[in-house]
Amino acid sequence: MASYLQCMDCSATYPVDRLIYTCTSCGGLLDVTHAWDQSPTRELFDSRLGSLEAPYNSGVWRYKELVYPDVDPSLIVSRPEGNTNLYHTPRLAAWVGVRSLYLKHEGENPTGSFKDRGMTGGVTQARVLGMTRVACASTGNTSASLASYAAFADLEGIIFLQNKQIAVGKLAQGVAYGATCIRVDGDFDRNLALVREVSDKLNIYVLNSVNPFRLEGQKTVMIETLQQLRWRVPDWIVCPGGNLGNSSAFGKGLKELYDLGLIDRMPRLAIIQAEGASPLYHSYLSGFQDFQAQKAETIATAIKIGNPVNYKKAVRALRWTNGVVEQVSDQQIMDAKALIDRTGIGCEPASACSLAGARKLVERGIIQPDETVVGILTGHVLKDPDATIGYHSATLENITPAYPNPIHSAADDVASIARILTRQAEPV
Ligand code: F0G
Repeated sequence: MASYLQCMDCSATYPVDRLIYTCTSCGGLLDVTHAWDQSPTRELFDSRLGSLEAPYNSGVWRYKELVYPDVDPSLIVSRPEGNTNLYHTPRLAAWVGVRSLYLKHEGENPTGSFKDRGMTGGVTQARVLGMTRVACASTGNTSASLASYAAFADLEGIIFLQNKQIAVGKLAQGVAYGATCIRVDGDFDRNLALVREVSDKLNIYVLNSVNPFRLEGQKTVMIETLQQLRWRVPDWIVCPGGNLGNSSAFGKGLKELYDLGLIDRMPRLAIIQAEGASPLYHSYLSGFQDFQAQKAETIATAIKIGNPVNYKKAVRALRWTNGVVEQVSDQQIMDAKALIDRTGIGCEPASACSLAGARKLVERGIIQPDETVVGILTGHVLKDPDATIGYHSATLENITPAYPNPIHSAADDVASIARILTRQAEPV
């Protein structure tokens, strides 16, 4: 087989069809490693652009040779995902303080987040292994994605939801797609421990990002971005960090592209955390000498995670890319979100870390004004309507909206509506 599982710490290897998530000898995280005889070419991937044929119509499986070369195509579960837009955003570039800013909108995936790229990999592997039940703990997007892909593949989806903290759009998706939804009175970190324990006991396949097949799918965010940039490497990739699966996957994908000669240099990775959920950031400040889990708190509930399972892989990604870590406040997140929303693109709160973080890194002199930045938007604007409405109506605790768009009320007559519109037409 061209692919195998490999421990990132002790390098022990296992066949790809072994049902394990971590190394059985040292407990380390596993990678799916591919033994390529020769590199697939840019031309091969370019020739599949616009394909109507499954699985190459997917923005994950277009790169099948890099994702899971030997998988039987009849087992692939694809909706199809990926093929998301890369927006060039001059107005936001000016706000961030760089010459060139692109936003890659992963909220344009089938269930509205980047998780679909990982889920197609994970649910496909569930079928390879013959598993009939799949489960995850989630802050909301993974569960929405799992519920959809499990239903699509006719598997039972089981989702553990943290109490009260899940955004309503995400909760609705899990219920609608027919997953078995279990609300547990614990935070995400506790739920993840529970799902792993329960799944072990009941022979259920775990689809959190500890599952390395998820990360193989997610690394295609980077591959697709580079293909959209005609393989010209940007200076920076900026993304939010929670459980750190995405940033880990980005590091692996970029390293593989570089090692295969598909790109000629590495971009730098900037991982942005919310101030109240920033264990990686604090560890970064100590040169990764120290790691302290924390009790997480942030309005960006998607990344309200205090003990990220992929910490070690994220550190590895930062080393590979000469990367940095930054943190931003809830106020900065919500103001950046308002600006992204106002361009017409829109995103959920966690995604706005990319923009807020890029601006902060420019202010700190780490990103240079003449550099090219790609920010990753991870989730769709409709995921968390309460946060959006709360911001614009100034009802969020401890947040003073800098860019509010308050809703006007008018009496049921033309004059009263005209008064509002005339006032709006006046120069400010
Ligand atoms: N952005 C969004 C919208 C997310 O949903 C998540 C993670 C992240 C960023 C962070 O990505 O965990 O790979 O560092 N959401 C997970 C979930 C944890 O359960 O949906 P990460």
